[in-house]
Amino acid sequence: MTDIQNDNYIATAKAHANIAVAKYWGKRDSLLNLPLFDSVAFSVDGLYTETTAVWDEDDFRDELIINDWQVPSHVMGRVQRILDDIRARMGWSKRCVLRSKNNFARSAGLASSASGCAAAALAASSAAGLELSESQLSSLARLGSGSAARSIPAGWTRWHAGSAPDGSDSYAVTIAPPNHWNLHVFVVQISDVRKSVSSTEGMERCKRSAFWDAYRLEASQAADFAQSAILQRDFDALTKAMHHNMMSLHALCLTCDPPVCYAAPKSLELVQHILRACKAVQVCCTMDAGANVVVLCEGASYPFVKNDIIALGVPFIQTRIGGGARLI
Ligand code: PMV
Repeated sequence: MTDIQNDNYIATAKAHANIAVAKYWGKRDSLLNLPLFDSVAFSVDGLYTETTAVWDEDDFRDELIINDWQVPSHVMGRVQRILDDIRARMGWSKRCVLRSKNNFARSAGLASSASGCAAAALAASSAAGLELSESQLSSLARLGSGSAARSIPAGWTRWHAGSAPDGSDSYAVTIAPPNHWNLHVFVVQISDVRKSVSSTEGMERCKRSAFWDAYRLEASQAADFAQSAILQRDFDALTKAMHHNMMSLHALCLTCDPPVCYAAPKSLELVQHILRACKAVQVCCTMDAGANVVVLCEGASYPFVKNDIIALGVPFIQTRIGGGARLI
């Protein structure tokens, strides 16, 4: 994938955001972002990050510029882990400058860490001249943000939790290509307020919930249910898997101490609407650890679903299942 001769130490990569159908929620190692359970997701064609990486002089002060905003060094933590790993492999002390552009506003509250860390991993490793396999790249992206592991492969993906303490078997693979299932995707932007409790903090709090063991049991089977629905293109089974997983996660968050409520009133309005509609037409939805709602539907339901989303009066992106990370 990255078999390149790169004497200028520069490369540009593009990676898409991904949305989980069976979610990653709970870490077995928080430094390496190793999950407790497998997760299943799809790449979102309409949301992506393009990043150019340049390695230059021996100076550890890396830089990250996102859409012309110079990220302060103390908030670079996630991407820093990716760059440190590349430096260690190369036996280098060079610094890396990453210039990143999201095609969606960073302030929009849409998941940008997955596409951002995946694009950074591919661009920075390629710029260094490293030849990494897709699974190695997925593991590298995972160091920045767990869900970024799933923004390396294309289409419908499964992130294998793995069991190795060093995370060498914890990476994502494609289970079905983007054209496997001709679904419409709506990313409905309910709120542009940054979530007050990070995913990492939310996951830790949930482990202390009285309902954690029940969640754990269900979550350990969620990826298998979701994968089987996707491979068989069984929309009813996908709806069941997605809704159950979303509800379990958000219900668990409400039982933490202190409680975490990621949904906003308009998120619930849309979710309730979809829960009613899915009895009659092929539509389903999910919410990550935030207020935005992602809706999937088949072609026949498309006009109906779109009109309903327009009626909500909030911004949305209409798109398809996307590809994997690539050099551009
Ligand atoms: O990758 P992180 O640390 O931002 O965690 C993402 C967690 C969820 O988006 C809520 C679920 C998922 O599988 O993407």
